[in-house]
Amino acid sequence: MDHIKQQMEILEVGYRCPSNIALVKYWGKKSTGVQLPANPSISLSLGDLYASTTVKASPRTDVAFVFTLAGASKPSFEPKIEAFLNKIAVDCAWLSDYTLYIDSVNNFPHGTGIASSAAGFGALSLCVAHIEQLLMGYAALDGRVNGMDFWQRSSYLSRIGSGSACRSMYSQPAVWGESDAVAGSSDLYAVEMGVAVHADLSGWKDVVLIVDDGEKSVSSTAGHALLENHPYALARFGKAQENLASIVGAMRDGNVKSFIEIVESEALQLHAMMMTSLPYYVLMRPNTLAIIEKIWQFREETGLPMCFTLDAGANVHLLYDGKKDETVMNFVHNELLSYCKNRQYLCSETGKRPVLI
Ligand code: PMV
Repeated sequence: MDHIKQQMEILEVGYRCPSNIALVKYWGKKSTGVQLPANPSISLSLGDLYASTTVKASPRTDVAFVFTLAGASKPSFEPKIEAFLNKIAVDCAWLSDYTLYIDSVNNFPHGTGIASSAAGFGALSLCVAHIEQLLMGYAALDGRVNGMDFWQRSSYLSRIGSGSACRSMYSQPAVWGESDAVAGSSDLYAVEMGVAVHADLSGWKDVVLIVDDGEKSVSSTAGHALLENHPYALARFGKAQENLASIVGAMRDGNVKSFIEIVESEALQLHAMMMTSLPYYVLMRPNTLAIIEKIWQFREETGLPMCFTLDAGANVHLLYDGKKDETVMNFVHNELLSYCKNRQYLCSETGKRPVLI
């Protein structure tokens, strides 16, 4: 689709939305409100790992939505989409007058442990927010809804589908959750970090090393919930606040050493929280640790600016300065792929924002 069609109340729009990788992790929700984070987080968008979604809104038939994945029906995705649309209906009353025909496709395999829900809910929310602007008669996505600009509104809606999705809206590092270190930060939506990233820490890339491409044994939703009675929860939330302030400073000043230390420590804290939940669980696999050890060894030998991080899964994200692409990719091929399931990996630049398609 090359443009937005608006005819006889049928509105059609499409967005490509990146996935993102958190540097300071969101893990745990506030006990009140709809999906509000217990601590602030910050992420880089992964512009080359994205969902492309089109939404056609036409006058309501007997169903609220029809969902297809690359043109084919996918009943297993429907409950999540239904729950999402029901929740945002409080904010978007117009939804009850329309049936949404949603088609989505990821450019990376579903179930590789990459935050496909972030890209998916991000892209869907951008489409909903755009249609909302058309219905309100705003010409150029310049209308504010409840005080939020278009990107904040898209972020706000996507947060309700998947918390981490709300950080996929920006090219700059995105901060979600209130922090004194970031002006305008909010629990309701993500904002851009707001200070320029030093040249030494911009243009970094991510290689995702796929250790395990199966379903996670404990979902993120269940994992977040285990923070409620967690003995170390308060200490963790405080540490995340501190780390957020420190990493913003490190990115501004180009303090690569501090950046690396915070990112790796955050990844290990995330998994430490899982291992100390009740019930406790471990999502890392032996090859996760083998890759981490290799990265540490290679960094020690070469002094190259690189580090690992983890999501709620076994896969390892290797973040590195894009200027060292050739050397790092040789290292990946020679030393890391043997630890990956079927030698699978994914690559992305960081720092690309969603685009209208
Ligand atoms: O957005 P959720 O509910 O899938 O939570 C994801 C949380 C982590 O990916 C583990 C960390 C983060 O901040 O993205």
